[in-house]
Amino acid sequence: MTFKLDSNSKLMQPEFTFGVATAAFQIEGANTTDNRCPSIWDTFCAQPGKVLGGDDGSVACDHYNLWLEDIDMIESLGVDAYRLSIAWPRIISDIDGTVNAKGLAFYDKIIDELNRRNIKVFVTLYHWDLPQYLEDQGGWLSRDTVSAFVKYAQVISEHFQDRIYSYATFNEPWCSAYLGYQYGVHAPGHTSRKEGLQAAHHLLLAHGLGVEEIRKHTTAAQVGIVLNFTPGYSATQSVEDIRATQIYNDYNSHWYIQPLMQGSYPESIQVLYPSEMPSIEAGDMQAINTPIDFLGINFYTRYVVEAPGADCIEDFQQVSQQHTGAEHTHIGWEIHAPALYRLLTELNQRYALPPIYITENGAACDDHLIDGEVNDLQRCHYLQQHLQMVDKAIVDGVDIRGYFAWSLMDNFEWAEGYSKRFGLVHVDYSTQKRTLKKSALNFKALLNSRSHIA
Ligand code: FCB
Repeated sequence: MTFKLDSNSKLMQPEFTFGVATAAFQIEGANTTDNRCPSIWDTFCAQPGKVLGGDDGSVACDHYNLWLEDIDMIESLGVDAYRLSIAWPRIISDIDGTVNAKGLAFYDKIIDELNRRNIKVFVTLYHWDLPQYLEDQGGWLSRDTVSAFVKYAQVISEHFQDRIYSYATFNEPWCSAYLGYQYGVHAPGHTSRKEGLQAAHHLLLAHGLGVEEIRKHTTAAQVGIVLNFTPGYSATQSVEDIRATQIYNDYNSHWYIQPLMQGSYPESIQVLYPSEMPSIEAGDMQAINTPIDFLGINFYTRYVVEAPGADCIEDFQQVSQQHTGAEHTHIGWEIHAPALYRLLTELNQRYALPPIYITENGAACDDHLIDGEVNDLQRCHYLQQHLQMVDKAIVDGVDIRGYFAWSLMDNFEWAEGYSKRFGLVHVDYSTQKRTLKKSALNFKALLNSRSHIA
C-alpha cells in the first residue's frame, strides 16, 4: 500500500509542513562525551528493573557521531522540517551554571546544516533529560528548577536566536510530571500524586516564564509547547463510567491545556484532591497563560475508561485492552484514528487554540528486517489513517499547520528500552546501519508527490 491523499487536500498544499521527529536522549548516545553531565535518565537506567532489558542511552543510535549522515537521510525523505530536542545536560553541564561551549557547538553543526538545506528546525528544549544535579536539589518539585530552566532557555535562545524556526519549551509535561513523579515508571521514579501535581505546576510555570525569555532573544521564531493527549472514552453510558471518564480527561488532558489556554486548573480535580493541590504563588497562573504561537499535539491512542475497581489507585481505570477486539500496536496501544479527529475538533470547540502542529504520531510495530527490507504494513496503515483524520479536522475548521511522524528512526523507547521500534527507518543497533522501512518509502513518495515540489 502507498499513502494517498487527494491532491486538493490541505495537507498537500505548500504551506503545510511535514516532518519527522526525534529526541536527544533517545538517539544521541555519547552521554559522557564533550562534558555532558549525567541526566535523570542516565541515573534511572542504571537502577535495576527500571528499563526493560537493562537498556540505557549510552550509545542509542550513535547520532552524536552519525548526525551528518542522519541529516542526509532526513533530507532524502523530502521533509520540510525536522523536530529534535536539545540536551540540557550538554549545555549547562554544571550546577554552577557553566555554559558548555562543546554542547552548543554540537547543535550549531546540526542546526546550521539543516538551515543550509532549507529544512525548518523545530527544537524542543526539554524532552525529559533533566540534569541530575538539579534532581539532586529536588528536581521539578523545586521552584529553583523553574529558574534553572529559564536560564537554560536564555542561553539557547540568545545563542541560536532565529536559526531555530520553532521553539517548544517542553515535550509532554504530563509524562515528566505523572510518569516521573506519580506513577514511578519514568525518571526520577517517584510515586506520589501530590508530587505529580506539583511537578506539573512547576513544568507549566517554567514553560510560561521560558516563553517570555525566548521572546526576548528572537524575532521571527515561533514559541510554544508540546502536549500529549490520550483521550478517554467512556466504556458504557453508566453514570459511574461517564463520571470516571470526565475525571480521567480533566486529570490527564485539561490539567495541562486549560491553564495554558485559560489560566486555571480544572475545578473537578481541585474538588477531588484538595490536600494534594500544588502550591501556587501569585502571578503563576498568568505566567502559564502567556499567549503562545503554536500548540504541539502528540497523539498515539485513546483509552476506554470505566469507574475504578476495588484496588484502583485512581478515580478511573482503563478497560483492559486485551478484550476489546480492536487492533493494537506492538506496544499494546489501540489503533483508533477517529479519536485524533475527535480530539482536535473538541479541543477547537472548547478553547481558543493557537495554530496546531501534530508534533508526534506513529506506531511501534513488530518489525523485521528481511533481505534488506522492512515491510511495516501496520505502520503504513496507521500513518495513512491518521493523516486522513488530520485532513478531515482541517476541513472542519481546525488550524493545523504541520504533521511530524514519530519517529525518524528506531530509538531508545524510555522504560521499554530498545524493544519497541517506532522508526520510519530501521536501526540495527549492532552495526548502526539504517534501513528505510516501507513506511519511510511511502512517506517520501507522498511528500514528493506534492505539486509544489519540483
Ligand atoms: C512520546 C514521547 C516520545 C516517544 C513516543 C513514543 O510520549 O514524546 O519521546 O517515546 O511517546
